[in-house]
Amino acid sequence: MDVTDGVAAPLGMLAELTHRCPLHCPYCSNPVELVARAAELDTAEWLDVLEQARALGVLQVHLSGGEPLARRDLPELVTRASELGCYVNLVTSGLGLTAERVADLADRGLAHVQLSVQGAEAARADRIAGARAHERKIAAAEVVTAAGLPLTVNAVLNRANHDQLPGIIALAERMGAERLELANTQYYGWALRNRAALQPTREQLAAAEPVVRAATERLRGRMEIVYVLADYHEEFPKPCMYGWGSRQFTVAPDGRVLPCPAASVIDTLPVASVRERPLAEIWYASETFNAYRGEDWMAEPCRSCARRTVDFGGCRCQAFLLTGDAAATDPVCSRSPNRGMVDALLRAPADVEFVMRG
Ligand code: SF4
Ligand code: FES
Repeated sequence: MDVTDGVAAPLGMLAELTHRCPLHCPYCSNPVELVARAAELDTAEWLDVLEQARALGVLQVHLSGGEPLARRDLPELVTRASELGCYVNLVTSGLGLTAERVADLADRGLAHVQLSVQGAEAARADRIAGARAHERKIAAAEVVTAAGLPLTVNAVLNRANHDQLPGIIALAERMGAERLELANTQYYGWALRNRAALQPTREQLAAAEPVVRAATERLRGRMEIVYVLADYHEEFPKPCMYGWGSRQFTVAPDGRVLPCPAASVIDTLPVASVRERPLAEIWYASETFNAYRGEDWMAEPCRSCARRTVDFGGCRCQAFLLTGDAAATDPVCSRSPNRGMVDALLRAPADVEFVMRG
């Protein structure tokens, strides 16, 4: 049997070049145990990963972290990914992104920059980032747009910055962003520790809705706004990753290949590494990627639910984190027998301070 039978090639790769990062965001979704610098793939290994990824069909490469600018070989990796014909996106805090560096990366084929912001103004944003970062991000946005690169601004929304939503939208406009992602915090990795402190209130979420709607209308054609819902408050789960092992994969800094950035949390799942197996074999034939592909793994109520082709049973990592079973229906779903867990979390008192990363 051809191992590729019925499985589509991936479109995108999230290459987590390093877990090193100058920020300390409490909503960080990277694992609690970070990969140490000494365990990171070296330049030759990353170049090989890029070649294998392109041969596998990958067209979009997201260079991420941690902070990818912390890797001195970033220019070389951008060159290779671009030479291979990939669309190359840099996912960055902006710290260390000078005019010279961005011009060099653009010359080498960088196609897009995604810049994080933590709030609408320095006092709040720097408190959430745990560093004096806000003004440097504004400077980074300037050099990105001056280099002619399209800019996406990404703001992770949480209880500490939800009230600044109009200001964050205005900031993204001033920065010249073509796209703004307003993403309510998802509770993975470090963020899960801080769930009680990060969770927005119902009032905050209700207030956000008309603000986002009005801004989307006003900015149509100038800046696209993507609003990621606070899924605990929804009736149905998010279509996480558009299905396990269906479109994209993540390579962790040490070469482990994961179906999503958070999947290392599912400790019942064997994880393969590019240091041990070819990428194509991992994508098509590994237990990791086949565990929750398609629908055969689903139990009730997903198995007979008409929405299974819409949300794929929700998020495997969330199911595991909340129930201990990665094959369970995502407890966010109102049809899940475990929905009560999520409701209890939403009722939990939340007057706690978050713990900074690092
Ligand atoms: Fe989605 Fe499963 Fe809930 Fe149906 S039962 S809506 S497939 S999570
Ligand atoms: Fe891993 Fe949703 S975050 S499947």
